[in-house]
Amino acid sequence: MKKVGIAAIIILVLVIAGGWFFMRSMGGMGGNMPGQGGGMMNGGGMGNGGMMGGGSGLVEDMKNDSIAGGEKRLPIPPMLKDENPDPGKAEFTLVAQKGTVEFLKGKATDTFGYNGDYLGPVIRVKKGDDVSVKVKNELDEATTLHWHGLEVDGEDDGGPHSGIQPDTTWNPEFTIEQNAATLWYHPHLLHKTGEHVYKGLAGLFLIDDEESEKLDLPDEYGVNDIPLIVQDKQLDENGQFEYDLSMHDVMMGLQGDTIMVNGAINPYVEVPKGKVRFRLLNGSNARIYQFALSNGQEFYQIGTDGGLLEEPVKMDSLVLSSAERAELIVDFSGYEKGESVELTDQGMPFMKFVVSGEEKGPKEIPSQLVDIPEVDESMAARTREFVMSGMGRNVTINGKQMDMDRIDEQLKLHDTEIWEITNEGMGMMGNNMGMAHPFHGHGTQFLILDRDGNPPPANERGWKDTILVEPGEKVRAIATFDHKGLFMYHCHILEHEDAGMMGQFNVE
Ligand code: C2O
Ligand code: CU
Ligand code: CU
Repeated sequence: MKKVGIAAIIILVLVIAGGWFFMRSMGGMGGNMPGQGGGMMNGGGMGNGGMMGGGSGLVEDMKNDSIAGGEKRLPIPPMLKDENPDPGKAEFTLVAQKGTVEFLKGKATDTFGYNGDYLGPVIRVKKGDDVSVKVKNELDEATTLHWHGLEVDGEDDGGPHSGIQPDTTWNPEFTIEQNAATLWYHPHLLHKTGEHVYKGLAGLFLIDDEESEKLDLPDEYGVNDIPLIVQDKQLDENGQFEYDLSMHDVMMGLQGDTIMVNGAINPYVEVPKGKVRFRLLNGSNARIYQFALSNGQEFYQIGTDGGLLEEPVKMDSLVLSSAERAELIVDFSGYEKGESVELTDQGMPFMKFVVSGEEKGPKEIPSQLVDIPEVDESMAARTREFVMSGMGRNVTINGKQMDMDRIDEQLKLHDTEIWEITNEGMGMMGNNMGMAHPFHGHGTQFLILDRDGNPPPANERGWKDTILVEPGEKVRAIATFDHKGLFMYHCHILEHEDAGMMGQFNVE
């Protein structure tokens, strides 16, 4: 922990003051107000790994029913049918709808989902495909559908300007121009993103390409290529999702006490003896996870948000902030049939891998994956600065909050730019205090140049669309903007985004 002491007291005062401001501005609404400051500061999203570690209230608060049991098999999101038989063309239909799910026995939780009660099917396309998606809204309220990480024009991006009214259909069409990646889709309506995602609107969008298909990676979907959408939820005594933001939620982003994977609490999945690939999405509103295996076993990260890495990176824990993805390979070949290991967040198990005994998949992990271009700063037409600061409802980027009628940044089509993203933390009160913010830019993929002047860690030397920036930290990332139109950049803590920690850039 760095520079705590006096700064902690200042935070405490600010948190309380900010909370009062919020309570008043919301007319006294506000659910479970934390009893004391200590509780408020324990949110997992705060500070760096060290601050998220042991002693955090999260661990003690974890409900018992989420760690007992372990009876439920991991649901595997179905693959969405391509309605166009023509190779090279793909057509899909997604329906945003209401549903109910029994997450807890005997309690039907009201949910949202795509083509089902909760979450959505996997859209899988190939580089070069011409894609058309019909997105029908069968909810009672407007929503949008944004392709997170996809490089398409602004009009197809599904941001806050592309509202889909109830009983209407939105039909974006685009060509897949980027390489193999694990992307996702979710709503993006102004002030409503947090609630819509929280109720269950999210799904995976996978891209394949020739290079990735040639690599000898585990690729049997649901067998040794397994998607894991990790989300934390808060179920009330009736089993309902509370999206009734407390003061703490406004400050830290909503953090639930129950972790779900693909919509199941504490599930298990059978895996073959061998190498298994996991496509991990942090689909949580706010929580930053620190994933590890319960026996301390090492694993390999092979992919980042926007594609495969140049080579597998051996690690024993992985920090993933909201909206980030990671592709991992875990080697189960040393396990006996029936042996199991758990996946943990900050040491707290939330799902189990059970080895089935049947051998499957590649014997070795390829040592070389894909080529990532050398970053060349001299290609950049300019450097653009983004400063994230504030707390609670007062979170800003470059001192401003989102205004649908204001375009914050003008970019030139096909320009390469360096984006310098700073987290000012508490600003003058203490740059190193405050919260880590995952910064996300639409319509492109970035390569990180440096973090506070140092080269990024090996597992971040790949395509990124969401970059976690710690309090006091400055990250420089480079990207080329090959799609025209209006796009968003924002903090992907959805409560911050909804509070206005977002801006717009136009590419022409
Ligand atoms: Cu994942 Cu602007 O979104
Ligand atoms: Cu996005
Ligand atoms: Cu934030």
